[in-house]
Amino acid sequence: ARSLSARIAGLLSAFPDHPEPGIVFRDLAGVYAEPGLLAELADAVAGHFGGVDRILAVEARGFLLGAAVSARTGLPLTLVRKPGKLPGPVHRVEYALEYGTDQLEVQKGAIAPGERVLCVDDVLATGGTLAAAAALVAACGARTAGMAVLVALAGLGGSERLSRHPLLVLHDVPEADPAVP
Ligand code: PRP
Ligand code: MG
Repeated sequence: ARSLSARIAGLLSAFPDHPEPGIVFRDLAGVYAEPGLLAELADAVAGHFGGVDRILAVEARGFLLGAAVSARTGLPLTLVRKPGKLPGPVHRVEYALEYGTDQLEVQKGAIAPGERVLCVDDVLATGGTLAAAAALVAACGARTAGMAVLVALAGLGGSERLSRHPLLVLHDVPEADPAVP
């Protein structure tokens, strides 16, 4: 059977200069369109980590794999969202983008102190988003048991930045990967 990494590679497309010049957008639409594949990917994530109490998924594109992992494992799912979306008291962290900053939030009380949380997103680039997710877990008094992404982009420092956490990458995109749609 073809490896999950090879199947992702065959379904991934790259769009140069989207959403702005110099950025190569890695489009996972083909992965999500493949019948049954997201569930298989979720099972691979679930099988890799033990001792997890909760899945945390990052808005927006991290919701897909995060929800699938939660559904396949029966573990509770918590959503990390962009600012102003969540009702009630929230923990908020600011994180750096290529230009400027953004913020992520989680509801206070959504994660119990001491819980072991698996943080899930679609793509790892600079690692700023997942580092912010881990900071929100810490703000809740919980700890990050691991991180999982479908795709990691080499050469942007993401895995180095997240090196203190166990990280599962289902497919690595090499730095020199040609960006041909
Ligand atoms: C993209 C992607 C990851 C993040 C990776 O999300 O879905 O969450 O960037 O980049 P990083 O490792 O440099 O932080 P984006 O912020 O574009 O928002 P979206 O998921 O809501 O589309
Ligand atoms: Mg995202």
